[in-house]
Amino acid sequence: MLGTILLLPLALVAHVSATQTRLSSPDAPLLPGSTSDELVYLHRKLVEIESITNNENDVGQWLASYLRNKNFTVELQQVGDKRYNVFAYGKKRDTTVLLTSHIDTVPPYWPYYYNETSGVIGGRGSVDAKASVAAMIIAVHGLTEQMQQDLSLLFVIGEEAIGDGMRAFSDWNKRPTNDIVIFGEPTEAKLVCGHKGILTADLKVTGKAAHSGYPWLGVSANDVIVVALSKLLELREHLPWSEKYGNTTMNLGRVEGGVAANVVAETASASLAVRIAAGGPKAIQGLVTNALKDVKASVEEQGGELDISWSSTGYGPVDIDCDVKGFEKLTVNYGTDVPHLTGDYKKYLYGPGSIFVAHSDHEALKKKELEQAVLDYRRLIVETSFMHNQERQDL
Ligand SMILES: *[C@@H]1O[C@H](CO)[C@@H](O)[C@H](O)[C@H]1NC(C)=O
Ligand SMILES: *[C@@H]1O[C@H](CO)[C@@H](O)[C@H](O)[C@H]1NC(C)=O
Ligand SMILES: *[C@@H]1O[C@H](CO)[C@@H](O)[C@H](O)[C@H]1NC(C)=O
Ligand SMILES: [Zn+2]
Repeated sequence: MLGTILLLPLALVAHVSATQTRLSSPDAPLLPGSTSDELVYLHRKLVEIESITNNENDVGQWLASYLRNKNFTVELQQVGDKRYNVFAYGKKRDTTVLLTSHIDTVPPYWPYYYNETSGVIGGRGSVDAKASVAAMIIAVHGLTEQMQQDLSLLFVIGEEAIGDGMRAFSDWNKRPTNDIVIFGEPTEAKLVCGHKGILTADLKVTGKAAHSGYPWLGVSANDVIVVALSKLLELREHLPWSEKYGNTTMNLGRVEGGVAANVVAETASASLAVRIAAGGPKAIQGLVTNALKDVKASVEEQGGELDISWSSTGYGPVDIDCDVKGFEKLTVNYGTDVPHLTGDYKKYLYGPGSIFVAHSDHEALKKKELEQAVLDYRRLIVETSFMHNQERQDL
């Protein structure tokens, strides 16, 4: 409590100066040369170290030593075999603001490049999410000593797969206490007010093989999966929607079945992902189960099977705080670690670069975008802690 009251005037000073940095002319450099060089260096090192999900150890160890050299206290939270979250702070372990992003990437690895003429920096992870990681760290450097002491950093593993890094942090018996958590993912420098939920499922059909000249002796798993998928295409037009998130969408991402043209297919399968715009995963499960009910009954009558297995990690739409002035706002259709952090926080989501290039072979962003993110993270830190302190004063 005492800390809060003492912090308030300092937050106010920082509040004013952070607002002023936005008034500089459009051609002026966004950051001082040495800060910009450090940002580009840090970002390059992070991208150069391959860290595809499950292989995050090298980049995590490098980052830990970088942060220790900058006088952070660093704790590695073990999540699995050679798999660690990196948690860093200054003098205080519990802080008002926690900044977090992820250090794993999707495959395959693409090498780093920097075209100084165009200002384009690319490579795997250059956007998702090492741009956020680098910008967050440099942002913290530029703040007042007092503000820095009320900040901590968390860089998790496994975000691109099942979010096991953030889940482990949520379950950590030494989890620090924080009020505000700022997540970093590519948002084109906008503040995200929420994202769709997700549910994935696998359909598996077991029929009975036979010679294709005598199809009545078998049960074609392919015939069954084709009918099942046609039911899902019909259902897809009638899934729940909302004003905020638009339509729920369904992607039939993988379909397989059978072995050869002249064999009645014994097995077939399909994997699907539903991006949920309204309601929860249970409701979607109900709709899909109902749409496939007749197909299932019919194949079972013939001695076959239709199984639906649901991922256990589904969730509905995720609302995120975005009550900070001066940022463009949007909602997005991709999943993040936000729902994997349980507990009572104000949560924000912001990051440099575009999701549209994030998982592609041309993942890249401009140096200016990285620099802008440093300023924007500072502004977010200052504004959100300022609002937080005001709310506590009002109580
Ligand atoms: C870290 O702390 C040491 C000792 O107080 C100081 O000499 C050094 O300049 C600090 N380094 C940074 C990067 O702040
Ligand atoms: C760097 O960018 C410039 C300007 O867009 C372009 O003309 C040049 O071909 C690029 N260089 C490389 C090596 O891609
Ligand atoms: C949602 O789906 C309806 C019809 O199914 C379509 O007319 C509409 O354009 C879709 N909305 C968005 C935002 O895609
Ligand atoms: Zn990401």
